[in-house]
Amino acid sequence: MAKTKSTFVCQRCGATYMRWVGRCTDCGQWNTVAEETLAIPGKHVRSSISGGQKSAPIPVTDEDQPAPPRVSTGIDECDRVLGGGIVAGSLTLVGGDPGIGKSTIMLQISHGLASRGQRVLYISGEESFSQTRLRAQRLGTLSDDLLLLTETELTELKKQLTEGDYGLVVVDSIQSVYSADLPGVPGSITQVRDCASEFLRLAKRSGTPIFLIGHVTKEGSIAGPRTLEHLVDTVLYFEGEGKQALRILRAVKNRFGSTNEIGVFEMTETGLQEVPNPSALFLNERPEGVSGSVVLPSIEGTRPLLVEVQALVCDSNLGSPRRTVTGVNPNRVSLILAVLEKRAGLHFADRDVFVNVAGGVRLDEPAADLAIALALVSSFMEAPVAPRLTAFGEIGLAGEVRGVDMVRQRVAEAAKFGFTTCILPKNCAQDAEDIGETVWPVGRVGQAIEMAMER
Ligand SMILES: Nc1ncnc2c1ncn2[C@@H]1O[C@H](COP(=O)(O)OP(=O)(O)O)[C@@H](O)[C@H]1O
Ligand SMILES: [Mg+2]
Repeated sequence: MAKTKSTFVCQRCGATYMRWVGRCTDCGQWNTVAEETLAIPGKHVRSSISGGQKSAPIPVTDEDQPAPPRVSTGIDECDRVLGGGIVAGSLTLVGGDPGIGKSTIMLQISHGLASRGQRVLYISGEESFSQTRLRAQRLGTLSDDLLLLTETELTELKKQLTEGDYGLVVVDSIQSVYSADLPGVPGSITQVRDCASEFLRLAKRSGTPIFLIGHVTKEGSIAGPRTLEHLVDTVLYFEGEGKQALRILRAVKNRFGSTNEIGVFEMTETGLQEVPNPSALFLNERPEGVSGSVVLPSIEGTRPLLVEVQALVCDSNLGSPRRTVTGVNPNRVSLILAVLEKRAGLHFADRDVFVNVAGGVRLDEPAADLAIALALVSSFMEAPVAPRLTAFGEIGLAGEVRGVDMVRQRVAEAAKFGFTTCILPKNCAQDAEDIGETVWPVGRVGQAIEMAMER
């Protein structure tokens, strides 16, 4: 019998402790640490990514080592997010809220490969054969090369995977898979982590790409994808507001391509439809001539994307006024408010402030600062910014507007959608002077406000 030992594992972030603690020091949550019994692996267990085969050092300059082959998913938006297609032998995690469309997109990707003659194994541990077949029918993804398996025991799955020659394997979901050799119920952190490492070994050894679907909940309290992020090659998150049709596929880790790349989809009855022109979609319902709205040419991965930043500033009757922010980092908004207070003399101390990015987009880049600042000032002054204006640039604590990257792409995207003026950092303005849009270079946030609010 395998030896076992007891450890205490945080069910939220996976941190391990020698004894029970009330609060996880890694993620700061209370009462998330539970006792788990781990099997101590014997000497024969090798965990290298070469899958147990002997390997010798190779010079990094060796050109005979082929780049891993990639196959297209048949869906352009997915290929771009993956960095150009699915890499042979890679392990990818697809995370997202329940009901967001993870099974749907994976069935569509499976069909993309199966319809071009690759055998795809879809392991469905969540839904029965007939449920999955019905869904495949609805999505128009039926194919003889798409094989469904409703097994969830790891040893059995390993056998199936090694026996069949598959171009792609999808595990829906990693939380439903369990190993009879391990303690804990399916979905517990030990089970999820050990089963995922086993799939990693299988993928590397066989060269078959494997996709693991994992649920995350808003509270993140269930053992799930977050504990697997370091293990897998690629982490994709599927996001969106449940009630709206818009869905965004985002790479948050990619050993084979750029992160920050996004794919935009619309959920319809016949499945996820690609949105080839997301800028048009995001600006679709934008009100014209209203205060507090500024269009930002942002960059998502390698692609420019026009998004609307909205702000609402109103009198507060609360002791400590509200700061409600969605789609951007709240700390960034606090910083911008402080700069506006100090450098532009605008007082937000007795005002409620709301900031939102329309369409459910999340902005991570500092280039959004100037658009956020102008939206705040515009709402504060209850006056719209100049018509057909866009703005971008990072704001520093001294009130300076600092340069950002990919200036030409930003200005060109704005020009394509009929915007005529762009306020941008002065030290990168020369990059965009010949595009045909009027550029207003600024060095300080005060200057940007004067230009944007000029009537
Ligand atoms: N008959 C249908 N018509 C249109 N949309 C549907 C239908 N059935 C399911 N959906 C959509 O698919 C979503 C479920 O997607 P699914 O891929 O099962 O999500 P997940 O695997 O992430 O839990 C539902 O939230 C709904 O939006
Ligand atoms: Mg599902």
